[in-house]
Amino acid sequence: MMSARLKAKSEGKLAKQICEVVLDHFEKQYSRELGDSWSTVRDVLISPSLWQYAILLNRFNYPFELEKDLHLKGYHTLFQGSLAYYPKSMKCYLSRTTDRLPSERHQTGNLKKYYLLNAASLLPVLALELRDGEKVLDMCAAPGGKSIALLQCACPGYLHCNEYDRLRLRWLRQTLESFIPQPLVNIIKVSELDGRGMGDAQPETFDKVLVDAPCSNDRSWLFSSDSQKAACRIQHRRNLPFLQVELLRSAIKALRPGGLLVYSTCTLSKAENQDVISEILNSYSNIVPVDIRGIARTCSQDFTFAPTDQECELLVIPNKGKAWGPMYVAKLKKSWSTGKW
Ligand SMILES: C[S@@+](CC[C@H](N)C(=O)[O-])C[C@H]1O[C@@H](n2cnc3c(N)ncnc32)[C@H](O)[C@@H]1O
Repeated sequence: MMSARLKAKSEGKLAKQICEVVLDHFEKQYSRELGDSWSTVRDVLISPSLWQYAILLNRFNYPFELEKDLHLKGYHTLFQGSLAYYPKSMKCYLSRTTDRLPSERHQTGNLKKYYLLNAASLLPVLALELRDGEKVLDMCAAPGGKSIALLQCACPGYLHCNEYDRLRLRWLRQTLESFIPQPLVNIIKVSELDGRGMGDAQPETFDKVLVDAPCSNDRSWLFSSDSQKAACRIQHRRNLPFLQVELLRSAIKALRPGGLLVYSTCTLSKAENQDVISEILNSYSNIVPVDIRGIARTCSQDFTFAPTDQECELLVIPNKGKAWGPMYVAKLKKSWSTGKW
């Protein structure tokens, strides 16, 4: 018979354990970087009962009944305002409450009807402004949330989903299989490469590149139960900006002149966000910032944004009733002129 603990775990009822080592570390860094906002952000991050889950409907197996139900329950769609780029085919519902729909089970041959996600993770996808027929690279793609969100927006001519970690690659394949119909799978290439080498292998190939980078992932780090593992991660954290810059350099090579590059992370850390983008902007004369403040203006009723240095960046910080993020997004363009490097 299943133990009570196992049963509770399988039902998602076990209280998550906060890792004090990580919390102390965040406390020091983020109270300095975010100032007064940090205490609210911390209260949300450490209280999973306050977390919210948005519902991205799958246009390839559209749940009309569920949509009616969500309206009745008071859910609303993201971006009711006017955003310059907002594909009607992408429907994401959210509510101010912490209600959570159950996740659907993977069943071979059956497409899922919806995907639960942190609503802020749609911002990098929207910033990419994907159009039908474009060639797009999702350089760090597993578990695949942003890949399937991209396919809700438009039908690319070619989508390359890459993931370096073999186990996570399996998860990515399963996500694609669960949400995308077979004929569309033919335009998707899945690979298991180190993103750092992709630019040399496929120079000036893509119209759009998304680098949803490996990062500190603040929410999950806070609940990494083992404090020894946490201490290791904190050490390792110092190296992340180097990896992130290398991934971006490779992405820039893979991008065609005139193409768009979006960088995103799910950490609040300045070293992994603003500092990485400043380094890129300072070292390439053919990489220019693209203003994305319009997104923040359009959806300020749903998200809380922290101030950032540049017009090409957004930082969503979790707040009560708007418990989305952390999510940092930066948008860059490769111009036609020759770069310094
Ligand atoms: C933030 S996650 C991506 C989440 C994904 N975009 C989504 O929306 O579901 C970052 C991913 O980058 C992968 N990664 C780490 N190092 C990498 C590398 N050198 N090249 C490519 N991917 C890498 C990690 O294994 C991880 O799955």
